[in-house]
Amino acid sequence: MNDHELVLVLDFGGQYNQLIARRVREAKVYCEVLPHNAELATIVNKKPKGIIFTGGPSIAYEEDAPKVDPKIFELGIPVLGICYGAQLTAHLLGGKLEAAENREYGKKELEVATHPIFKDVSTKTTCWMSHTYHVTALPEKYKIIARTDHCPIAAFANDEERIYGFQYHPEVVHTPEGKQMLQNFLYEICDCRGDWVMRNFVEKSIQKLRNQIGDRKVLLGLSGGVDSSVAAMLIHRAVGHQLTCIFVDNGLLRKDEGDMVEQVFTEQFDLNLKRANAQELFLNNLAGISDPETKRKNIGETFIRVFEAEAEKLDGVELLAQGTIYPDVIESGGTHAAVIKSHHNVGGLPDDIKFTGLVEPLRDLFKDEVREVGRELGLPSHVVDRQPFPGPGLAIRVIGDITEEKLVILREADWIYREEIRKAGLQKDIWQYFAVLTGIKTVGVMGDERTYSYTIGLRGVTSLDGMTADWARIPYPVLEAISTRIVNEVKNVNRIVYDITSKPPSTIEWE
Ligand code: XMP
Repeated sequence: MNDHELVLVLDFGGQYNQLIARRVREAKVYCEVLPHNAELATIVNKKPKGIIFTGGPSIAYEEDAPKVDPKIFELGIPVLGICYGAQLTAHLLGGKLEAAENREYGKKELEVATHPIFKDVSTKTTCWMSHTYHVTALPEKYKIIARTDHCPIAAFANDEERIYGFQYHPEVVHTPEGKQMLQNFLYEICDCRGDWVMRNFVEKSIQKLRNQIGDRKVLLGLSGGVDSSVAAMLIHRAVGHQLTCIFVDNGLLRKDEGDMVEQVFTEQFDLNLKRANAQELFLNNLAGISDPETKRKNIGETFIRVFEAEAEKLDGVELLAQGTIYPDVIESGGTHAAVIKSHHNVGGLPDDIKFTGLVEPLRDLFKDEVREVGRELGLPSHVVDRQPFPGPGLAIRVIGDITEEKLVILREADWIYREEIRKAGLQKDIWQYFAVLTGIKTVGVMGDERTYSYTIGLRGVTSLDGMTADWARIPYPVLEAISTRIVNEVKNVNRIVYDITSKPPSTIEWE
């Protein structure tokens, strides 16, 4: 039995697939993503209230295009196909697809019929189109329920079978009433009630954790990042001091961060936290290393050694906890999902520590839900709304070899940058922002003297998930304040540059 009502998203490899799932969850309905070729039996066993087919880059009538078992339409479960999903639905049920003369791309005016799926949607609204192929003839018993100038069948319906298709993308912000349409599918068509709320999640999880853990001891590597912090709090709520957290301070954190983590979790919440002060060891091991991947590996290996040594000091720990979240585990029909964490999680965990089980209380959650759970648990905003921070920390923001002197410079510059962004009230608009100590020294002049000092690079990006990113248009006066303060207040820096490249072709980090 499901704990919650459930809607399934079948993934056909489109770029917005996780966004669809997030939209469903925002509408308070629990949702899981499965690959498009999931077994019909698996789907039926999950007892979904509805199924959504995502977009994707293929052409539905081609031999090797991703398909579904057409029996899925006979289950009596409502289906909504989006973009490729709509084309596939029409194709499998006897409709016709053709290539449009021109690719239809961008915001289009959409005219919608009176229909429950368009409840509270304006008759003329805007939708986001991105397709070359479109449906030109509908299967029998289907009707058109929305059109654009270039796409006469922009949405279609079979109310008897409860099967629907949208050629456009309701999940993206460029379809301003798309959220309402998805909500209508859930509530008007699938009869959902909306039982996915984080308060219920917290209560149920605590109960589940108590059942799973019993009187055993649990160990968790706490990095101070959002996921491990929220996982720690949740497990602590469930089993208190049966949980031990190991916080490895690698000396590569931002200014005051190590103390902040310790203070929040021990003083504010009384967690059983062991801080391993391994700053010197990490720095010694990194001495003279310039290559980014070698740095990452080196840090990963040192982390394992320190973690192991700390874990050995503990008695009778049987369970290992991790802050794994849903995007880390989605098995995708496309190729994108789960790429981030795999390249990010530094080092992983020691092979030879034997645990009898894993505790992963956030496995079902998206990042924004993890933050909400954190808030429910009373974690402060500077933990819950923390911007992404890479496992190897400042080591990949000091270009070239790492020394304590360079780390001090970088920490100070980064601190000023973050403070000015906060003062300007921009911290929620910029996804990630940080300073980089470039390997370049340049000539400058201060007072009457020539200087030869470091150049600091400032990076600021907007992004949804870190996979792609655009450089943030930080207002000039804010950049000016940051630049002036850094060169005045941080010794050995005489030049500031702002990074104006997007990802791709750049990455967010410089190494
Ligand atoms: P890139 O630089 O690959 O970064 O565009 C995308 C996102 O991932 C973070 N990042 C890392 N996180 N270990 C991590 O835990 C890493 O080695 C690593 N490299 C990049 C980066 O901060 C951004 O949020």
